[in-house]
Amino acid sequence: MLDQYAVFGNPIAHSKSPQIHTWFAQQTNQLLEYRAILAPENDFEASANTFFAQGGLGANVTVPFKLDALVFANTLSPRARRAGAVNTLQKGKNNQIYGDNTDGIGLVRDLTNNLNFSLAGKKVLLLGAGGAARGVVEPLLNAGIAQLKIANRTPEKAQQLVNIFHGLQPEAQVTSGNWESLQASQYDLVLNATSSSLAGDLPPLPDDLFTDESLAYDLMYSQQATPFMLWAKAQGATKVADGLGMLVEQAAEAFFLWRQVRPATQPVLKRLRPLEPQ
Ligand code: ATR
Repeated sequence: MLDQYAVFGNPIAHSKSPQIHTWFAQQTNQLLEYRAILAPENDFEASANTFFAQGGLGANVTVPFKLDALVFANTLSPRARRAGAVNTLQKGKNNQIYGDNTDGIGLVRDLTNNLNFSLAGKKVLLLGAGGAARGVVEPLLNAGIAQLKIANRTPEKAQQLVNIFHGLQPEAQVTSGNWESLQASQYDLVLNATSSSLAGDLPPLPDDLFTDESLAYDLMYSQQATPFMLWAKAQGATKVADGLGMLVEQAAEAFFLWRQVRPATQPVLKRLRPLEPQ
């Protein structure tokens, strides 16, 4: 039997992860099988237990199971603990399950390597304070940004993130607020980590967030431009991106953890893009 890997989610049918990891494996001559597993919404544990008991070596975990995976893991990487979520599981010695989070490093790699956006010294606005937002704060700070403002519909949740992360890079200024607090400020990078795009919705943002050089980035990806991307373009943002590159980069980091081989991500990104209708 080939080495077994999988992605758990619900829904999972449209996940691009099996395709991405299969291409990584072909490219690096790794013999493995990677499939999508639909876990019941209320029983991730049973599904994951079965997979690892039957010889599974590693798994990715997506919505809505990243918190279940955090609980499921026997040991955690420091970044997964601080992110409060696990997107990558690996079976180790004595069947111990290690939990990691590669989402944030995936975002930073997409920004710096694929989009050529240097984070050092930048002023960054993070919209949202849920699981997706929490997962990217640490790698952004470690990449040397100068300022991070976390804005959320419920500003108390944004402040909780500030409390968790503010000491990590003492030279970076980390603040929080509601949408109104964004008036009259511009940012080099605006990241949408709210789930509002899922509902075809958009936070009520002021219309002077961007400079000529700003990048607007939606952590979500979908076949069409998201409401946030359309809004940013209409606001004059010249650089706009979705989260497909982040998806590929977080997958590459998981692949590296499992196989100790780093796949090239650009060819995989190029192959995925043409699949999308223009
Ligand atoms: P995820 O894991 O995708 O981050 P989550 O933890 O449920 O999901 O967090 C969802 C985030 O999107 C939160 O920041 C949420 O704001 P609240 O903390 O105020 O709930 C934000 N969000 C969801 N729907 C939104 C909407 N329609 N407008 C603005 N923000 C929204």
